[in-house]
Amino acid sequence: MTTYNLLLLPGDGIGVETIAEVERIVDFFNKSGTAKFATDTDLVGGAAYDKHGVAITDAAMAKAQNADAVIFGAVGGPKWADVPYAVRPEAGLLRLRKDLGLFANLRPAICYPALADASSLKRELVEGLDIMIVRELTGGVYFGEPKEIVTQENGEKRAIDTQIYTTSEIERIAKVAFDLARKRGNKVHSAEKHNVMRTGVLWKEVVTAVHKSYAPDVKLEHILADNCAMQLVRNPKQFDVIVTDNLFGDVLSDEAAMATGSLGMLPSASLGAADPKTGKRKALYEPVHGSAPDIAGKNLANPIATIASFGMALRYSFDMGAEADMLDKAIAGVLAAGLRTGDIMQPGMTKVGTAEMGGAILDELKKLAA
Ligand code: IPM
Ligand code: MG
Repeated sequence: MTTYNLLLLPGDGIGVETIAEVERIVDFFNKSGTAKFATDTDLVGGAAYDKHGVAITDAAMAKAQNADAVIFGAVGGPKWADVPYAVRPEAGLLRLRKDLGLFANLRPAICYPALADASSLKRELVEGLDIMIVRELTGGVYFGEPKEIVTQENGEKRAIDTQIYTTSEIERIAKVAFDLARKRGNKVHSAEKHNVMRTGVLWKEVVTAVHKSYAPDVKLEHILADNCAMQLVRNPKQFDVIVTDNLFGDVLSDEAAMATGSLGMLPSASLGAADPKTGKRKALYEPVHGSAPDIAGKNLANPIATIASFGMALRYSFDMGAEADMLDKAIAGVLAAGLRTGDIMQPGMTKVGTAEMGGAILDELKKLAA
């Protein structure tokens, strides 16, 4: 049996508690002989800054480069509000994305039937919702240079962020979106703002060309990003796959996530290009939610997004689709049984903590695996 190397980066806040629940599931797979995972752990974000003065060390980066998958918790918190910009907690995550070349960020927004009433949208709008947001993750305004604040001669400050996209960057993310759509509802919405941005003009042009040459069988619609935001709350079920740039993807994925009931539910996968020799991709899996410092360390956090992120690792990095399905089923089962963490609590349900939720999912998984 192949041994898969997992690097766990819990980071800050609730990342620590939610990754602990993933470890229990990894242990189960190891003990039951389903798979062989070797795990290593390191610091990222504020935790790394406190110990090493940087948001991630070169040694941790080297581990990430060598891992088959990185499972990431969350970074940031008010404790680090005043640290220098270059070593702020988020810089650790951004370095991982950039240095590992994780250009494709897959953010599914799925509404579990049991949670349809937890959404701020009406049940009929979100029941059965299943959207995949494909966010470009290593380009755009997140990384474009110049990126600076300069003091001008008159003493006034001037801040610059630069949005840059090249043809090849757009092509490769468009292909990821079309490939995914073929396995789903066969429809892609490409969101940009070509009415205002030159990068939007190129984005639209390149996606159109890729569609024509690579995926004419998939339905493609272009949509302005602001209209996309509006349509996501008006009628989210019209979407199947949404492909968009780094910044619009950041915003639209939070919006789509909330439509499903809770940000605490949603996983994500960040994938690099397939290695031409081995076919393997560098990969990082993380919950869409952040570090939630207000509830950290209190056994209040919802571990589902992090557990489901590990499920995505099973699917996309380890070709363990059956086990990934089983894990998803275990999560749905526990929700159907009425267990809820605080963020998704509803009248008549049973409120549980992080460890109890993780334990219940594990028990359900054991039953399904038996
Ligand atoms: C996300 C987060 C990050 C981002 C932050 C933590 C840098 O909001 O993954 O969506 O902006 O990409
Ligand atoms: Mg975000």
